[in-house]
Amino acid sequence: MSPSSSAGPLSSGAFYQRWLGPVLARDDGLDAEQLSRTALTALGQASLRRRWPGVSTVLDGVAADLQRRDLRLEQVLFGCRFPNPVGLAAGFDKNGVAAGIWDRFGFGFAEVGTVTWHGQPGNPKPRLFRLAEEQAALNRMGFNNDGAKALLKTLERQRLDPPGRRPAVLGINVGKSKITALEQAPDDYAASLELLSPLADYAVINVSSPNTPGLRDLQDTSQLRRLVERLRRLPACPPLLVKIAPDLDDESIDAVARLAFEEGLAGVIAVNTSLNRLGLEQRRLSQTGRTLAEEAGGLSGAPLRQRAQEVIRRLRASAGPALPLIGVGGIDSAQLAWERITAGASLVQLYTGWIFQGPDLVPRILDGLLLQLDRHGLRTIAEASGSGLPWQD
Ligand SMILES: Cc1cc2nc3c(=O)[nH]c(=O)nc-3n(C[C@H](O)[C@H](O)[C@H](O)COP(=O)(O)O)c2cc1C
Repeated sequence: MSPSSSAGPLSSGAFYQRWLGPVLARDDGLDAEQLSRTALTALGQASLRRRWPGVSTVLDGVAADLQRRDLRLEQVLFGCRFPNPVGLAAGFDKNGVAAGIWDRFGFGFAEVGTVTWHGQPGNPKPRLFRLAEEQAALNRMGFNNDGAKALLKTLERQRLDPPGRRPAVLGINVGKSKITALEQAPDDYAASLELLSPLADYAVINVSSPNTPGLRDLQDTSQLRRLVERLRRLPACPPLLVKIAPDLDDESIDAVARLAFEEGLAGVIAVNTSLNRLGLEQRRLSQTGRTLAEEAGGLSGAPLRQRAQEVIRRLRASAGPALPLIGVGGIDSAQLAWERITAGASLVQLYTGWIFQGPDLVPRILDGLLLQLDRHGLRTIAEASGSGLPWQD
């Protein structure tokens, strides 16, 4: 496949920028949550019907444009074969409606959820704000999702290939239901995981979203240990990763790395959105007239990038080379993906950058990673992970 196939005038990237570029260049105008919901409705229908002739032709066209198949990008981590190191981060496909087609968009893996045991509406709207100039977002969605039983049905209806035989790895990200008391959290997570584990290639314990009161207290090592040990007692448990906040101090990051080793976790995902305002304290939201310092919610996108990079570096230093890390936060170019990987991540995930840049961000990153492997004389992306090798223009 030609590396430049996503650059043509009829490519997915050009199409996206033509129609959505003007919308994404402004804070107001079309509502960010409504846009995502509309896109997901269409993608959900396409996933259900992906084997129908007309639909599969369109999806084949998208895949021809966005996928890059190259053995140098492949890795086996915690028993899962990742065809490439770029994944869709949790929170975009919360209900797993498009789980059957994320590979077509070039992703090597996709994480659905966060799912909670009890379906819940989330916080009042508006709860998702674009910060166009900063290429960032503020969200206080509050785990709006249809619940674990609904996710099971949604995934079953899509007739996915079984774990281990899918074109892209599927992670399921699990959180605590709002109505469940913090002391009961382990049973709440366990109920979701027990139901969904047969469908998951890996599972994520989300203890880092800022929009569920008390949730981040579960990052405390004694609470996290209790939670992990409860999940470990399930009859069948997929590889378990934990997702942490960017707002942890260095000692707490080290403690998570130690716990991951002691409890045999499959890996750590760093980072979730930030409660810090990262220099944007006085930035006003046009929709509410209030500053970010006054608004509740987690910040994502470009302003998060530096902290996300520091957390990966710290985790890699304290965990040593063996623990797989997934780097997420502010990645919107091949260079940033390369730098996150060479700082210690094995895989990276995209959310805010993917929305702003459009679907051809994935092949642009994959092409860029392959070029860096060539420039540094490396054979595989695994050799780049934690190598500290710089980006070479
Ligand atoms: C609107 C929105 C919803 C999100 N929902 C979730 C979620 O449900 N679970 C989760 O673990 N992370 C969630 N995230 C966090 C992302 O997965 C990611 O960790 C974070 O946004 C940093 O990456 P980015 O800068 O590339 O967006 C959400 C992010 C956004 C912007």
